[in-house]
Amino acid sequence: MPVSTIEWHGGVDGICRIIEQTLLPTELKYVDLADQRQMWDAIKRLAVRGAPAIGIAGAFGVVLGFKDSKATTPAEFDRDLEAITKVAQGLRTMPLQAARERLLAEAQTILTEDKAICRKLGEIGAPLVPQGRSALTHCNAGGLATADYGTALAVFFRAKELGKRFHVYVDETRPLLQGSRLTAWELQHEGIDSTLICDNMAAMVMRDKDVGAVFVGADRIARNGDTANKIGTYGVSVLAKAHGIPFYVVAPVSTFDLTIPDGKHIPIEEREDKEVTEGFGKRTAPTGVRVFNPAFDVTPHANIAGIVTELGLIERPDAERVPAFFERHRR
Ligand code: MRU
Repeated sequence: MPVSTIEWHGGVDGICRIIEQTLLPTELKYVDLADQRQMWDAIKRLAVRGAPAIGIAGAFGVVLGFKDSKATTPAEFDRDLEAITKVAQGLRTMPLQAARERLLAEAQTILTEDKAICRKLGEIGAPLVPQGRSALTHCNAGGLATADYGTALAVFFRAKELGKRFHVYVDETRPLLQGSRLTAWELQHEGIDSTLICDNMAAMVMRDKDVGAVFVGADRIARNGDTANKIGTYGVSVLAKAHGIPFYVVAPVSTFDLTIPDGKHIPIEEREDKEVTEGFGKRTAPTGVRVFNPAFDVTPHANIAGIVTELGLIERPDAERVPAFFERHRR
């Protein structure tokens, strides 16, 4: 069973309980977030992280945000909502208590749906795991990044349940080490045969170690299949292509943004220098050095063999196949 990454306790005045992921892998600690500021802070610090888990956290964050609201009129509700987020404007004419209950129900629905989606992704992706060979993954797209057993890692978890024999190479994932701190921990927890490597070892491993496929998660996917994910994913895709290894993205359909034509339109967050120069409290670069620290990069669709979604596999995604896939599933 996957660990429970995020859950809600109580009614509208309840709390959101998350795993404090910055402490993993040495300590599994749950923390209770009682107000919206604590939720903001948890997301910023990556105490809760991964695209689906952040979505769920955001939804619970709205409920937390209304905890201290005294709104009695639609205008006051709007004022408070503006301060929290814009998602729930349709609720402005409801009595405050009913609106808060509706927001909580909505957040719970997002969480429950995410669990079902993870299972479906695992089911659809498991046949792609190379029998008797190795796969490689980057960052953490596991249970810790979702409400259930993940996206890219769901594929491994399901393949194991089906009795497949395989091994996984885990990229460490500099600078914040989601691979070594979180993915290695999750795979070990689920008894999946795995080996941790530094990011700069991936080329050699792909050439010499019988890697049959790469599976990664996604943070945002453009209309042509260009995919934003954790920094380093693009490099892994280039290496996979150079070695003739299929590179799969595993993501719920909610990750697609069909309004953006390609990856050039995806804004990339840049984070603090400190993550690179003194990661985990140890200074490893000279003071004053200039640093570039993008948190994500974009993998061009040409490097992607397929995108596993809960609705099916999009093979060789491009500007025609992605919209056509959604068109087929709209009918
Ligand atoms: O900065 P993070 O740790 O939130 O980055 C996580 C990733 O990039 C994941 O691969 C992505 O969010 C998909 S998680 C199912």
